[in-house]
Amino acid sequence: MRNQAKYAFALLICVAIFLPLIQIQLMWISLLLVSFVVLGLRDMQQARHAIRRNYPILGHFRYLLESIRPEINQYFVESNTNGMPFNREIRSIIYQRAKKQNDAIGFGTRHDVYANGHECITHTMFPSAVVPETLRTTIGGPHCKQPYNSSIFIVSGMSFGSLSGAAIEALNKGAKLGEFIHNSGEGGISEYHRKHGGDLIWQIGTGYFGCRDIHGRFSREKFIAVANDAQVKMIEIKISQGAKPGLGGMLPGGKITEEISLARGVPLNVDVISPGTHSEFSSIDGLLDFIEELRDLSHGKPIGVKLCLGSESEFEQLCKEMVKKQIVPDFISLDGAEGGTGSSSVEFTNHVGLPLYDALFIINKCLKKYSLREDIKIIASGKITDGFDIIKTIAQGSDLCASARGMMMALGCIQALKCESNKCPVGIATQNPSLTKGLVPAEKSARVYSYHKKTIDSVAKMLSVMGLTHTSELRPFHILKRNSEGHLTSAESASGS
Ligand SMILES: Cc1cc2nc3c(=O)[nH]c(=O)nc-3n(C[C@H](O)[C@H](O)[C@H](O)COP(=O)(O)O)c2cc1C
Repeated sequence: MRNQAKYAFALLICVAIFLPLIQIQLMWISLLLVSFVVLGLRDMQQARHAIRRNYPILGHFRYLLESIRPEINQYFVESNTNGMPFNREIRSIIYQRAKKQNDAIGFGTRHDVYANGHECITHTMFPSAVVPETLRTTIGGPHCKQPYNSSIFIVSGMSFGSLSGAAIEALNKGAKLGEFIHNSGEGGISEYHRKHGGDLIWQIGTGYFGCRDIHGRFSREKFIAVANDAQVKMIEIKISQGAKPGLGGMLPGGKITEEISLARGVPLNVDVISPGTHSEFSSIDGLLDFIEELRDLSHGKPIGVKLCLGSESEFEQLCKEMVKKQIVPDFISLDGAEGGTGSSSVEFTNHVGLPLYDALFIINKCLKKYSLREDIKIIASGKITDGFDIIKTIAQGSDLCASARGMMMALGCIQALKCESNKCPVGIATQNPSLTKGLVPAEKSARVYSYHKKTIDSVAKMLSVMGLTHTSELRPFHILKRNSEGHLTSAESASGS
């Protein structure tokens, strides 16, 4: 009897201790069940998503999987050579060069050297000596009074607004350290472009940011003030870019911070439209007059035009007018349809504009036909990221190359493909302070510097094994490409690509 009382007492104590715990657990389970019931009911009642209506609760897994599809693809599915826009092999080489890590590979090529489209350079048995620091070229035609000596690999235009202030600062500091020029992009010149004093190409788009009056038109007064700043070495009139030729853009008022408002010369909290066309000119004649005017107002700095080629006949018309008016730009920045953007429409990104190598062939042919090639430097852009890309592009007709996304990857871009969402996880293509805080300019500028340096070193090594001493000696016959019949032919005999 006494034992039974003892057991009953022990049981009572256990219940007293564990009951509250069990109650807490039950409470959580009940809460979870109630949430599921509420979610299920809401799914069944809502009308926007059929999948949630037909498969309450379970339907959410589809959206979850869809949202992590790029990551799954990148980490588990894609091979070293089939990822887009940049495959793993290219991304790795940029990261390694930026971080000063070993960028060699072992065991042999992962490429099928007999596949259609395979490319290689013609090397010699007797390599030459190449000094990487000499791989520069001077930009400035006969009417230019302040020619600029540029590295053959530079930072392509990306505006403050599409990129964070920290990213712009790191790019400009890297450019300063490595003595290469940094294109401002069309969002004007911000304090982040100026902080470290790296050389700048000031890009002027249809919004005339940094040189616009209160109506959004070009302001001569404001242009003179910025163009004659010593940090601005060249000026580029943006006609179009490869990822969205002819499309303007809209910067929503909500994204216009005080810094952006200052850099662009636009009011706070008001949507800012970049139209598809320039208000200062609407014909070739007007464009050439504008080039001449900017050259005068900037006291003879190199003036260029950025475009993605649409048609050969239009470009030929431009050449004819240049000869007739005796006005030529000092450089043409040629962007291929494969080029990147902060945001564009799918149709434009995929189907408007000529790819880089087709366009390069056409504009070289036209400029030579009208004896203009000597006076105009060509800056090519469109997925140019390593030494071979630079060799191949210069051999096929450019004088120097610009990179946007290569430089972004040097900054730490992981190709999350979220530039348009303001949610870039590494703080590059976003204005969200909780994300940009992750990007430390002092650290990332060293990476931009190192990526540029190691890429130039690789160009120098390739030139050396070709028996050349400078990229200006490259010609189309230096590049061989396997055609659809299985033969290796030189880029010279192919029609431009
Ligand atoms: C995030 C981002 C922003 C860009 N902003 C500009 C811009 O302001 N002006 C411009 O002419 N091109 C802009 N571009 C295009 C690049 O300058 C370049 O022409 C194109 O991306 C091709 O180079 P890539 O293949 O090395 O990226 C931008 C590209 C990216 C990825």
